[in-house]
Amino acid sequence: MIILGIESSCDDTSAAVIRDGVLLSNVTASQAVHEAYGGVVPELASRAHQQNIVPVVDQALQKAGVDREQLSAIAFTRGPGLMGSLLVGVSFAKGLAASLGIPMIEVNHLQGHVLAHFVHEEGEEHTPPPFPFLCLLVSGGNSQIILVRAYNDMEIIGKTIDDAAGEAIDKCSKVMGMGYPGGPIIDRLARKGNPKAYQFARPQIADYDYSFSGLKTSFLYNLREWVAEDPDFIEKNKEDLAASLEHTIVDILMKKLRKASKDLKIKHVAVAGGVSANTGLREAFLDHARRYGWTVYIPKFGYTTDNAAMIAMVGCFKYQDKDFCSMDKPAYSRVEI
Ligand code: KG4
Repeated sequence: MIILGIESSCDDTSAAVIRDGVLLSNVTASQAVHEAYGGVVPELASRAHQQNIVPVVDQALQKAGVDREQLSAIAFTRGPGLMGSLLVGVSFAKGLAASLGIPMIEVNHLQGHVLAHFVHEEGEEHTPPPFPFLCLLVSGGNSQIILVRAYNDMEIIGKTIDDAAGEAIDKCSKVMGMGYPGGPIIDRLARKGNPKAYQFARPQIADYDYSFSGLKTSFLYNLREWVAEDPDFIEKNKEDLAASLEHTIVDILMKKLRKASKDLKIKHVAVAGGVSANTGLREAFLDHARRYGWTVYIPKFGYTTDNAAMIAMVGCFKYQDKDFCSMDKPAYSRVEI
C-alpha cells in the first residue's frame, strides 16, 4: 500500500508518501509572500500553489524512491480551507489519479491534524494514542476539543464561539506591531517575560466551548491606555505582554480540556494544529501529565502545522477500509469533522 498525500488547504503546498503506514517523505513549500500583508492573501496563495504543486509532488516521490506507477491511491485534502487553494490540490489529485487509473481518497483536513499522531518514519519510536482519546485542535482557524472514538468516528464536543486561539494570538501580536504569523514571535518573547505581569479578560462560557474575542479586545483596550501614558510601553514590556497573553490563552485552553477529561474519564489527551507548537502549551500538557495522570501526545514540530504526511496517514486508514471517493467530488471550504 503506497499512498501519496496532497495538502493545499491554506498557504502550504505539501506532498507526502507513506508505504504500509511508514512515512517515506514529506515535502512542504511554504509561502513567504504573505508576510508582507500580515495574513494569508487567498489570491496569492492559489497562485503559489499552482507554481509549487508539481515540483513538490515530484520531490516527495523522488525522496521516497517511489515511481508514480507504484502508487496505490492518492489522498487529498478536500476541505475545509481556502477555496482557491483547495482547488489546486483537488484538481491536481484528480488529474494524477485519472492518468494512473488509481483510486482517490478524500480527507478532511481537521481529521488529518488529529491523526498526525499516527505518522512515523522507519525505526522511529512511536506510540500513537489508543482510542478513545481527546484531542485539543488549536490553529489559526480552529479551537476545538474532539472526542476521537476511532479514526473515522470523531465528535467535536467543544469549540470556539468566535475567534480561534491562533487567530487571537496573531491579532494581539499585530496590535503590538510584531510580524506575521504572531504565534512563533509571541512564543519567543514569552520565554523571557513574566506570565503574571498583566491580567486580561477570561471568558465565562458554558460546557466545553471557548471564546477568545473578549480576551483580544481586552488586550487591545489595555494596550491603548498604556501606550497613551507611555508611547514606548510596548517596546519596554513586550516580553511581559507576550508571556501574560500566552499564559492566559493556555489557561483558558487547559481548563476546558481538564473538565472534558474529568467528565468523560479519558486520560489519553493529544494536542494538534499550529498552536500546538507553542512552548507554554506543550509545558502545560507535560504538567497535566504529572498532576492528573494524563498520558499526553504532543506532535513533532513538523506535523503541527499543515503537512501532507497527516493527509496520507488518513489515506492509509481509509485505504484499508476501501473508503474511496468518486471523481465528481468538489472541494469544500467549510465542513465539520
Ligand atoms: O494549523 P496552522 O498551521 O494553520 C492555520 O490554521 O492557519 O496554524 C497556524 C496558527 C497561527 O495562528 C500561528 O500563529 C500559530 O498557529 N502558531 C503558534 C506557534 N506556531 C504557530 N502559536 C503559538 N505559539 C507558536 N509557537
